[in-house]
Amino acid sequence: MKKFYITTPIYYVNDKPHIGHAYTTIAADVLARYHRLKGDEVFFLTGTDEHGSKVAESAQAANKSPQEFCDENSAKFQMVWDRLNISHNNFLRTTSLQHKQGVEKFLNKLKESGSIYESDYQGLYCTGCERFITEKELLDGLCPDHKKAPEVLKEKNYFFKLKDYLPQIAKLINSGELMILPENKKNEVLGLIKQGLDDFSISRESVKWGIKIPFNDSQITYVWVEALQNYITGIGYGADEENFNKFWPADIHLMAKDIIKFHALYWPAMLLAAGLPLPKVIFAHGFFTIDGEKMSKTLGNVIDPEALVDEFGSDAVRYLLLSQFPFGADGDVKAGNFVIQYNSDLANGLGNLTSRVLSMAEKYFDGVVPEKDFEFSDETAGIWHQYEDAMKIFKIDEVIEIIRKFNSFADGYVERQKPWQLAKEDKEQLAKVIYNLLESIRHLALMVYPIMPDVAEQIFKYLNQADWKSHNFKELIDWGVLEPAAKVEKAKALFPRLEK
Ligand code: ME8
Ligand code: MG
Repeated sequence: MKKFYITTPIYYVNDKPHIGHAYTTIAADVLARYHRLKGDEVFFLTGTDEHGSKVAESAQAANKSPQEFCDENSAKFQMVWDRLNISHNNFLRTTSLQHKQGVEKFLNKLKESGSIYESDYQGLYCTGCERFITEKELLDGLCPDHKKAPEVLKEKNYFFKLKDYLPQIAKLINSGELMILPENKKNEVLGLIKQGLDDFSISRESVKWGIKIPFNDSQITYVWVEALQNYITGIGYGADEENFNKFWPADIHLMAKDIIKFHALYWPAMLLAAGLPLPKVIFAHGFFTIDGEKMSKTLGNVIDPEALVDEFGSDAVRYLLLSQFPFGADGDVKAGNFVIQYNSDLANGLGNLTSRVLSMAEKYFDGVVPEKDFEFSDETAGIWHQYEDAMKIFKIDEVIEIIRKFNSFADGYVERQKPWQLAKEDKEQLAKVIYNLLESIRHLALMVYPIMPDVAEQIFKYLNQADWKSHNFKELIDWGVLEPAAKVEKAKALFPRLEK
């Protein structure tokens, strides 16, 4: 059995979950579900990033202890992921004991490797970014992302010898052993290495909210350094070595482009120092804007994923978010189009086809599956081929396009065959048409399952295939799984039309 280990970033708890976080997490869930469907043993990790000055300051502003603040906000993320049907295997909190113990072990390993040294440091620190920022990066003295002046910090810190590992990382990226995707992100990362980077400080003296450096009590681990380690502590590093060895290295770390430098350079360097294998793929999808504007609290255009679930249901939200623009590219989300797209793709698309086919099966054959017909057998095998190729390279938008095409193909078949006329003229042909349509919606259910799991299960139930998971993937993508004489049910509207 193959294993598949996928991660999302762990999100800062100073923010409420918004559709940016939801976008990455849903995409990861689609890939996790697809791999489970294939029979892979999947570990899907997500969680919350809870230490550091930014979180401590937000807790103070909310008049709460940092832990209380983290508990409340982490719970919000877990609740929203529940409502979105996210199927993670673990939700890692960096304030957990499991994480702390793993981090201590890892930091000791780094120390032993000789890749850590002490030094004085003076620099400009942006709390919003949780990183040191250079003069060059400032715009009118302000951090361009957070529009705030950084603070001057002068401390004694531990440093990590990043520079020592950069040539090796460049080699691994070039050889494809460490894949950075999409391709333009790979070039960006190689460009950063070429420019040259400084060693980075892995501890802070003035910060209080965090994990103590195991070999020096007066220093707190730099929040990014321990946050990255969630990818190993979340599967048992330092606690459940068996599980850790089974799943590490990660098959894919998924995130947006904002944090690629940490994942593609800092993290691999630390892993090399600690003698651990590197993740196989680092995939940075694009950043999206809302109606052409950056999503921001000040602009008041932050979209709450829960409100979307209330309006459209979780399956539709998953579909709508992932179908806005190519996965990997930047894009714009036009929330005003959601209703239109919901109606056209889901209510008039999959929903309509399913109820139409099932009611024809009821009307013409009393809901009994007719004799098998194999007219679309080869064609469907070809479509599955494309589907798998797209999933393999994380082209979720292409997967959606393939599903859409298959749906319209089945719609077109109904229009061409005109079952209502065949019912009067040619019962034999009608039986073939209905069988092909029933099998088509079974295939569609399977194709949409990773994206819209509830609706897929519902269709399987109507088709009397509630136990579909007892078949393996190879059997399921074959043509002709529905057995003649079995009963199917009439469908209720899967996606009731919305007015706007
Ligand atoms: O950076 N478009 O957490 P974070 C697309 N704690 N994706 C978006 C987005 C947008 N407009 N806004 C946010 C952190 N995201 C660290 C990570 S990992 C070891 C530590 C998503 O709460 C996207 O996945 O700022 C992005 O990378 C992430 O949220 C940043 O989340
Ligand atoms: Mg951020």
